[in-house]
Amino acid sequence: MSYRTAAAPETLLASPDQASQSAITGEITELHDLYARREAGGESLPATMHDFPPYRSSILRHPTKNPKLVDPETIELLSPAFGQRDVAAIESDLTLQHAGEPLGERLTVRGRLLDSWGRPLANQLIEIWQANSAGRYIHQRDQHPAPLDPNFTGAGRAVTNDAGEYLFTTIKPGPYPWKNHVNAWRPAHIHFSIFGSSFTQRLVTQMYFPGDPLFALDPIYNTIWRQKDRDSLVGVYDHDLTSPEWSTGYRFDIVVDGPDSTWFEQEGE
Ligand SMILES: [Fe+2]
Repeated sequence: MSYRTAAAPETLLASPDQASQSAITGEITELHDLYARREAGGESLPATMHDFPPYRSSILRHPTKNPKLVDPETIELLSPAFGQRDVAAIESDLTLQHAGEPLGERLTVRGRLLDSWGRPLANQLIEIWQANSAGRYIHQRDQHPAPLDPNFTGAGRAVTNDAGEYLFTTIKPGPYPWKNHVNAWRPAHIHFSIFGSSFTQRLVTQMYFPGDPLFALDPIYNTIWRQKDRDSLVGVYDHDLTSPEWSTGYRFDIVVDGPDSTWFEQEGE
């Protein structure tokens, strides 16, 4: 089995911004306050702020127009279609892809893919990619001085079962630095892609880990300006998913539309 990491690490600026973390954190707080005031004033606001200067590398590439709803074409309503046989069960275990065990905290991530009425979405493809336990991606654009793990590639996939459930076995990714500003670090996260016939485009999001001290500092996490929406991206520690002497466990349910939907990244982010 061979894997390539599905996407580049978070985009890096050619010339790093020299803003300090305290300046970035101040900008985040100011913008969240501004949006809260606008909402209190009766404005209807999207869940994510596209024009969000603290996320420096998004300034020139964020959408500048409001998205328009269009009727999907027939082909988009009927495809793609996946079956359980298209993806081998072993592909959901990221700890089995090499001769040895990867380093790090072994964990189970389990969840359900649901629509806004709580109905399970079966036979949808879920792909994940992530850094290793030291916070390093196998990607030529990630050259920061943390070790690669010869026993960890960091990509896997699964198809949801009839109850809309998926399950991955992996290791906990480490936080990593990125050049958004001076000494910028991303909270530990797993990237998720959702693709299938129950919605008309591929959806991409990130799962975080509870209690991460980097949450308040991270411009990407904070493009989502309401706390309740940010909370929907944090996996829930679930001791029932742990295995004695073996692994910890997190639950991460994903809702694909409606008011309870998980926040998804916009195209190009
Ligand atoms: Fe990442």
